[in-house]
Amino acid sequence: KKVVLAYSGGLDTSAIIPWLKENYDGCEVVAFCADVGQGDEELDGIKEKAIASGASECHVVDLKEEFVKDYIYPILKTGSVYEGQYLLGTSMARPVIAKAHVEVALKVGADAVCHGCTGKGNDQVRFESCFAALAPQLTVIAPWREWDMVSREDLLDYLAERDIPCSASLTKIYSRDANAWHISHEGGELEDPWCEPSKEVWTMTVDPMDAPDTPETVQLSFKEGELVAVDGKALSPYESLVYLNDKAAAHGVGRIDIVENRLVGMKSRGCYETPGGTVLMAAYKGLETLILDKESLKFRESVGLEFSHVIYDGRWFTPLAEAQLAAAASFATRVTGDVVVKMYKGTATVTQRRSPNSLYSEEFATFGADDVYDQSHAEGFIRLFSLSSRITAMNEQTNKS
Ligand code: ARG
Ligand code: SIN
Repeated sequence: KKVVLAYSGGLDTSAIIPWLKENYDGCEVVAFCADVGQGDEELDGIKEKAIASGASECHVVDLKEEFVKDYIYPILKTGSVYEGQYLLGTSMARPVIAKAHVEVALKVGADAVCHGCTGKGNDQVRFESCFAALAPQLTVIAPWREWDMVSREDLLDYLAERDIPCSASLTKIYSRDANAWHISHEGGELEDPWCEPSKEVWTMTVDPMDAPDTPETVQLSFKEGELVAVDGKALSPYESLVYLNDKAAAHGVGRIDIVENRLVGMKSRGCYETPGGTVLMAAYKGLETLILDKESLKFRESVGLEFSHVIYDGRWFTPLAEAQLAAAASFATRVTGDVVVKMYKGTATVTQRRSPNSLYSEEFATFGADDVYDQSHAEGFIRLFSLSSRITAMNEQTNKS
């Protein structure tokens, strides 16, 4: 028996290692750790930690470029934003992590995969839906739904009884999830929706109140929907995001504080920081406004709305997601051009945009005489466009008299 555990080096997953061995017939536990750009703090010394906790081996897989190029970019093209505000940072990372997790499981010949998500959240559904789509033969173990430990104290006691070293502290206020795109914060005082987040909540961005008094601009260049340069520099997808994160975080861009509907039915309150992502999304949508006609943009927006639920709900590896991504990718083939975003005290505003595929024409928009638009044609257009209103009103008038 062999289990591959999604391991973070934190208290929960450290306790899961001995727990698996004890509760699943002394099975071998292989640790898997995904590097999605969460930072060195979490990854430093992680292999040694996993072994010290009883794992037989530890696989750290670098998914940073793949995450940005094959997950964030396609999602960006759909324009997905969950419930009007959440840029889906945690949700976006789940499929790339689950895919790598399954690959490790198949490589080492494991029969089961295990994760440290609670039984109350979205993440369990996302991971397990991906597992089901990629390797339905694997057994899934979710210790939080099985054991009866409930607090950090319980977990620390459990490790101490087994002489397993753990540097985790007794108190940890917030539940956080970080990757290259964002960091999420839940728990602590945030559980009271009437409670304003304390300064300690935010970790990635500068407080907009302390941000520089002078705005800064960044130029993004897109080719067929892909970001190809930032400030004229051709960087890799991951490097571009790091660059944008640095700039935007310094100006306090990308903070939100929301109450959201979880997939499992309950509401939860969370604070999110998505500095570079906020700039990138604003830039992409800013460029789209030049390029997509009214009906196309409306359809692209409806795809974004639908897809925001697909990605939030963990349905990445489905025919539906494939079709929606294909629609967005089709529009994206026209999204070529440059955008300038101005960052200032928490805001990111598009101030310049240009595209060879722009449908915008100063000539057509101004009120002068021109060849493509004869104002006298508008009269007939409006007569027909409003015909049903006219007929309805005429009917009502006859019925009244
Ligand atoms: N509520 C957000 C979401 O569902 C963030 C979840 C954070 N996950 C975590 N394991 N701390 O996408
Ligand atoms: C968890 O419960 O594991 C984190 C929160 C979530 O998945 O929504």
